[in-house]
Amino acid sequence: MAELLEAYRSFADEHCGIPERWLLDQSIGLASLYDVVAGLIAQRSSGPVLDLGTGYGPIAIRLAAMGLGVVGVDRDQRVLHGTEEIASRCLGHSARARFVTADATRLPLPDRAGFRLVTASLLLEHVADPGEVAAEAFRVLGPDGTAAFFDVDDGLGAEHPQTPALLRLGEALSAWQSGYGGDRRVGRKIPGLLADAGFGDVEVYVLPQARFSVTSPGSEERRLTAEHLGRAREGIVGTGLLSEERFDGLVAEYLHAPARQVCQIEGRVLAFGRKAGDAARRRGAQAALRRQASGARRSA
Ligand SMILES: C[S@@+](CC[C@H](N)C(=O)[O-])C[C@H]1O[C@@H](n2cnc3c(N)ncnc32)[C@H](O)[C@@H]1O
Repeated sequence: MAELLEAYRSFADEHCGIPERWLLDQSIGLASLYDVVAGLIAQRSSGPVLDLGTGYGPIAIRLAAMGLGVVGVDRDQRVLHGTEEIASRCLGHSARARFVTADATRLPLPDRAGFRLVTASLLLEHVADPGEVAAEAFRVLGPDGTAAFFDVDDGLGAEHPQTPALLRLGEALSAWQSGYGGDRRVGRKIPGLLADAGFGDVEVYVLPQARFSVTSPGSEERRLTAEHLGRAREGIVGTGLLSEERFDGLVAEYLHAPARQVCQIEGRVLAFGRKAGDAARRRGAQAALRRQASGARRSA
């Protein structure tokens, strides 16, 4: 997938100042993890795929590069213009990946819209009711279709040594995200969300990622983290989680802390659910009827 990474890097170099730069950096920074996730997903189905909250398409474009037909959906049209450009650099102008602006909680698609696979990567942490996404995935999938949801869970991480300023900022970020309906611990809830939406055969994996680095004042890593936190400044300060002075003070403390070694460990959850096919559903309904009938005979 080296060409794919190169396409993201060249696009990012040409679009340094865009507001969604963090999302591009994330698509690049998590490239190896996305390779693993896309590989595991591709083993489950040969598509066609609907990728919800596709962003710059790290999953959608990988699956298309593996030969699956993909439709990526996102509510942010500006991001999708970039995604189309990156996809055309990676895939040529092939028709294997299309990108459409839509809300993942209200898809403009009929029931059983012909998809064999619905994916969502790092979307559920941002939506107020992730159950709506799971329900939409179930609705548009065909019989025997698979849902694959991949998302964060901050409870699965560790950092050594901890940076007090970063820890405090992270807590404020997490509290702010919960306040607007997001959830940084949604990973552990995905299996239940799939089951509640009607999916069976739920399988759950934790994908760990660890990074060892020496961060120093002014390093790229610290700059990117500060930028990421800066995007939440207005929300965190506006909701009174931290005062302006405290927020800026913590960011400065983090940025200027002496150079040191850091080992960061993060775990994200990937879960699959299967929508029973018509034959399985008929067998289930018949079994339920038999159970009802034998219950009635016993009580007669
Ligand atoms: C953190 S990004 C993840 C993007 C990509 N899937 C990835 O793994 O990098 C979340 C994306 O979901 C989109 N999004 C958030 N809520 C959405 C909704 N209700 N419907 C469609 N897209 C949504 C955002 O615009 C953003 O592009």
